[in-house]
Amino acid sequence: MKIVMATNNQNKLKEAREIFDSLGIVIISQKEAGIAIEPEENGKTFAENALIKAHAVYDLLKCPVIADDSGLCVDALDGRPNVYSARYAPEGQQCEKLLQELENIPENQRTAQFVTVIAFLDENGKEILCEGVCQGAIGFEKKGTNGFGYDPVFLYQGKSFAELSADEKNAISHRGIALRKLYEILKERSLNHAE
Ligand code: IMP
Repeated sequence: MKIVMATNNQNKLKEAREIFDSLGIVIISQKEAGIAIEPEENGKTFAENALIKAHAVYDLLKCPVIADDSGLCVDALDGRPNVYSARYAPEGQQCEKLLQELENIPENQRTAQFVTVIAFLDENGKEILCEGVCQGAIGFEKKGTNGFGYDPVFLYQGKSFAELSADEKNAISHRGIALRKLYEILKERSLNHAE
């Protein structure tokens, strides 16, 4: 099975491929499919934004599509930056801004969640939504050089996401959880169709 991923984010593509490759599903980027779009993400929830991105590509290609919308929800900031995670600060400056905002917040109040919603549209445009949540905390400094975005400040069991290998992150991350949920649903569907 081939699925087009509605993203221009190379990191998201890499993480999705690492999971789906081992499951026999080929992920093609929207660029490889000949599409250069960046739809406005003006939804109020991760699910709404994931569906906006998925439909934008599906409408052009009419083939199976996945899109991911993700973000970080920090408890001490009443859940912010949430769906505004990409717009919180320019890419590359997000960790610094977050560390500054949490400067006076003690360790036991720095809990946070990474959330991903994956929207899948099948060849007929039927929607499936899968959510993944990873509970962690925001550290006091950036640690590690892997990953992207908020990874250097997001601590999971004492290590930042940027200190984990790609496989280690995928095994426990919000995106890994959501993608594996989707895989289980697609596997079930293909078994039912084969019957
Ligand atoms: P979007 O899903 O492309 O709108 O991304 C939302 C924001 O969250 C971007 O600024 C990303 O850098 C950040 N983000 C999404 N997923 C991750 C992740 O797995 N690690 C670190 N940052 C992430």
